[in-house]
Amino acid sequence: MRFIKMFPVFLFVCMKLVLFNLKAYLDVEESVKLAAAIGKAKVDEEIVIAPSQLSLQAVSKKLRGKKVSLCAQDFSYSHSYGAHTGDVLLDDIKKIGCRYAMIGHSEVRHREAPRIGDGDELVSKKIVMCLEAGIVPILCFGETAKEKDSGKTYDVIRRQLESAFSGIDGEAEAEAVLAYEPVWAISSAAGSKGCDIGYVRRIEALARKTVKKSIGFRFVYGGSVDAGNISDYLSDGMIDGVLIGRAGASLSSMHSIFERLKKA
Ligand code: 13P
Repeated sequence: MRFIKMFPVFLFVCMKLVLFNLKAYLDVEESVKLAAAIGKAKVDEEIVIAPSQLSLQAVSKKLRGKKVSLCAQDFSYSHSYGAHTGDVLLDDIKKIGCRYAMIGHSEVRHREAPRIGDGDELVSKKIVMCLEAGIVPILCFGETAKEKDSGKTYDVIRRQLESAFSGIDGEAEAEAVLAYEPVWAISSAAGSKGCDIGYVRRIEALARKTVKKSIGFRFVYGGSVDAGNISDYLSDGMIDGVLIGRAGASLSSMHSIFERLKKA
């Protein structure tokens, strides 16, 4: 098994990554408007947008020729076109022009009943699917408040990371983004204030120790990132970027984020 690296190494080193996960905050029309605004922004960071699945195609058209990458928020575990009612196929995601796909977001892992979330095994299989398709996986991982409070953070993260890449043999070279998103720090969690940088750095160090050496990864943080704190995360030498949810889902707060990036 050998996967191809798609980015020159210097991009890993220099360019910070700013990812916008629009979740299901916006309808198609609103997503396209927001994408148009993002497409006009002139910043040094690599910008990635993950609109709702139904908006991907329209947003992709809007961003044609712009220096903004497209990302799918998730995809189905179906390997080919066929009898899979309601599925979103990775093949389509690729044809639409996505360079990235998110896997294992906490809102997918911990879906509330009666829907079933993606477990570690499925996350691992989806990573292999992405790499085989030439799409860069953005692996989301992180502990819940309960796991943190019971002192299990490191164990949970080690398990998530080891399991995620278990389908890739030691020799295969692959590129990924690791998105550390502690569930308790996401803006939709009650009383969330985000996560301090020292804490994020400790998880980054754990990830470096845990993930196979053949996987080249960028480490980003997500959880209540906004215009007020984005520069703190991006100016940290150990953090390669940020993954933004709610603060990216309105034109005005998105505008403030870009203003902050221009000043950095
Ligand atoms: P918030 O920025 O709203 O905390 O969301 C983070 C997130 O889940 C991004 O994927």
